Amino acid sequence: MKHLNQVLLHPNNRVGADLDAWLAQAGGKGLQAALQDPSSLVGLIEKAGLRGLGGSGFPVHVKWAAVAAQKASRDKYLICNGNEDEPGTFKDRVLLEETPHQVIEGATIAALATGINRIVFYINPDLENCLETMRRAVAQWKGSDLAKRTAAVLDKPLEYRVVPSSGHYIGGEETAAIESVEGKFPFPRGKPPYPAEYGVHGHPTLINNMETLANVTHIVRNGAEWFRNQGIGEASGTKIFCLSGDVLKPGPYELPMGTPLKDLIYKYGGGVLLGKELKAVFTGGPSNTILTPKDLDVPLDFDSVRERRSSLGTGAMIVISEGTGIVKRVSEYVDFFAHSSCGQCPPCKTGTYYISQLLGKIDTGQGRQADLESLVNLCEILPGSGRCHLLDGAVKVLESSLYHFMDEYKQALKT
Ligand SMILES: Cc1cc2nc3c(=O)[nH]c(=O)nc-3n(C[C@H](O)[C@H](O)[C@H](O)COP(=O)(O)O)c2cc1C
Repeated sequence: MKHLNQVLLHPNNRVGADLDAWLAQAGGKGLQAALQDPSSLVGLIEKAGLRGLGGSGFPVHVKWAAVAAQKASRDKYLICNGNEDEPGTFKDRVLLEETPHQVIEGATIAALATGINRIVFYINPDLENCLETMRRAVAQWKGSDLAKRTAAVLDKPLEYRVVPSSGHYIGGEETAAIESVEGKFPFPRGKPPYPAEYGVHGHPTLINNMETLANVTHIVRNGAEWFRNQGIGEASGTKIFCLSGDVLKPGPYELPMGTPLKDLIYKYGGGVLLGKELKAVFTGGPSNTILTPKDLDVPLDFDSVRERRSSLGTGAMIVISEGTGIVKRVSEYVDFFAHSSCGQCPPCKTGTYYISQLLGKIDTGQGRQADLESLVNLCEILPGSGRCHLLDGAVKVLESSLYHFMDEYKQALKT
C-alpha cells in the first residue's frame, strides 16, 4: 500500500525556510539535472503526465510549450499562483510555509524549460506566515550556489519576487492574477489573447499553481515513469486532498492520484463525524457538481471525477453528513460567490446576487414555489455568460443541489 504524504509533504521535505536542510534532503538535485539539458524538460513533463493542480487539470506541458515558443529576446514571466481563497482549499499554504524551497526549485526549473526570466510568487496576503516564509526562502535562494549555477547557464540571474495578491478570490483566476501583478484590481481579462502570448505588461506569461510547481523537481530528479507510478491506474503523481466538513480527521492528505473517495473519507479521514451516514461531498471546492454516496467508489483523479460529471478541482473535499441542511450550505457558498464576483460581467454580479437572495429566502422558510422555479430557470440562463469560471461554478453547485436534493428544497418552502 502506498503511504500518506509520500512526496511533497514527506516529513523530510517539510523543513521550512531552511535551504541547507532542503539541500540535505536531496533538494537541488532536480535543478542540477535540469541545468544539464533544459531543452528536454517540456518533453519530460509531458511524459510524466503532470496536470495543473490549481483546479483545471490542464496538461502542464502544453502551457510550457506555448511559452517556450515565444521569442527568446522578450521578458517572460512565471506567476506561481498561491492566491488560494476558495472555501475548503488549504494545500498551497502548507507547501509555502513548510517547504518553500521545493516550490522555488520547481519554479526555477519551469523558468529554465520555457526561457522565463522573471518569477513572481503571488501569495494571498491573509496567509501572512506564507508570505514571510517565502520572502526568507527567496532571499536564501538568491544567494545560493544553485542560483549562481543557474545564472551561469542562462548568462544572467533569474529575477525572483514575492508579491501579495489583492486577497480577492477572483484574483486567483489567471488573467486576474496578471492584472494584480501589474498593480491593478484583479478584473479577469477576456481570452484570447492567452497569457502565453500576452500576459504581465504584454509579455509571455506562464501561470502555474504552487502544488503543480512543487512536483517538478521530483519529476526531474526521479524521472517520468517514477512519477506515473505514484498514481493509481492511468493517473500520474500524487495529490494533496483538502479534507474538511463533517469528518473525524480533517486536514491535508497527500495520496496517490486516483485514490478512491471512500478511502480518503473512511480510511484516512476516520469516517463521518459521530458515525453518521454520508450525505454529500462538495468536491474540488464548492464550485462543482456535488458527489453523493453512490460516488464513493470514484477514483479521485481528473478524468474519473469528470466521468461523474463533476471535477477534481483543487482537490478540496467538503464532507456533509446526514442531518446537515443542503439548502443552507449551498446558500452560504453562493453568498461567497456573490461577494466575490468582481462586477465586470453584469450577468455574474446580478445573477449570483439574485441566486443568493432566493436561496436565503428559501433557507429561512420564506420561499415560494415561484422562487424555486426561478432558481431552476437561472441555472439554464446564466452559464457561459461571465468572462471567467466564477459564475459557472456558482450555478453548477446550485444546479447539482437541485438535482440531488430537490425534496429538501421543496420541504423548505413556505406552505
Ligand atoms: C475564480 C477563480 C479563482 C481561481 N483561484 C485560483 C487560485 O487561488 N490558485 C490557483 O492556482 N488557481 C486558481 N484558479 C485557476 C487559475 O485560473 C489557473 O487555472 C491556475 O492557476 C493554473 O495553474 P495550474 O495549471 O498549475 O493548475 C482560479 C480560477 C478561477 C476561475
